[in-house]
Amino acid sequence: MVVGSLFGKYKKYSITKLGDKNMDLNGKIAIVTGASSGIGADFARRLVQKGVTVYGIARREEKLNEMKSSLGDQFIGVPMDITDESAVRDWTKKTFTSTLPDILINNAGIGFFGNIDDLPSDQWHKMVNLNLNAVFYVTSAVVPLLKKNEHVCHMVNIASIAGRMGNPKLSGYNATKYALGGFSDALMKELRDDGIKVTCMYPGSIATEFNDHAGGTNHPNMMESNDVATVLINILEMPDNFLIDEIVMRPLFPKKKS
Ligand SMILES: NC(=O)c1ccc[n+]([C@@H]2O[C@H](COP(=O)([O-])OP(=O)(O)OC[C@H]3O[C@@H](n4cnc5c(N)ncnc54)[C@H](OP(=O)(O)O)[C@@H]3O)[C@@H](O)[C@H]2O)c1
Repeated sequence: MVVGSLFGKYKKYSITKLGDKNMDLNGKIAIVTGASSGIGADFARRLVQKGVTVYGIARREEKLNEMKSSLGDQFIGVPMDITDESAVRDWTKKTFTSTLPDILINNAGIGFFGNIDDLPSDQWHKMVNLNLNAVFYVTSAVVPLLKKNEHVCHMVNIASIAGRMGNPKLSGYNATKYALGGFSDALMKELRDDGIKVTCMYPGSIATEFNDHAGGTNHPNMMESNDVATVLINILEMPDNFLIDEIVMRPLFPKKKS
């Protein structure tokens, strides 16, 4: 029984059709930024294992080539600096001429930690450029394609526990991740009528290369990126009419020495 259209001008869905359907990932198309290492690499790997074609974006081409060697043709490495707005817009335009993406994972991000009076302004700008400006470039280029897609689509933004609580030496990183949370909440409300779910993930510490740049220190009980990827897959596979807009995750014993 068709109850009525829930979505805006692009999508026509019935409430009954939405109610009983999980997103079947097999055959979907995803864009993952920051796919060359850390959680982005595990997101890409787990999505490919589910039958998703993944456009994995990052700057280090050699890392993307290694991923292609291990994941096969369903992983398409895209060497690109997403802080370059025209590169992002050109790539999006030329890539999706006859297909449409279903999933966007805004994952690429960077942190630089330090007291505010020691934080070089170029590090502040790098965080704002990648964690915020680039997210805007990618999202604003991809959302029109998600709107055109007839199926329920999903955008997942990777913030951080640093987007929910401030900490000494993290002011710049905190500022960008709090802002990403606000961006996500606004888009969740703006895009739901277009059949686009928006989820913001707020992870605590994960064992990745992140601290190599940030100047933080890894500890023995950080979360594993594969476990964070399991959460991503679970969120994506929920029924179409089931929206998880925020999810916070932490190690149970962050300070425990093991
Ligand atoms: N690790 C943690 O404890 C933790 C906790 C909470 C949230 N997060 C967030 O999780 C996300 C992923 O971080 P991670 O921990 O997996 O660290 P990571 O291993 O350093 O991954 C960062 C990714 O971003 C890519 N990237 C950096 N600059 C880029 C640019 N200009 N254009 C395109 N791609 C770029 C990097 O690839 P290239 O260098 O090849 O470009 C890399 O693939 C970040 O948003 C981070 O803030 C991390």
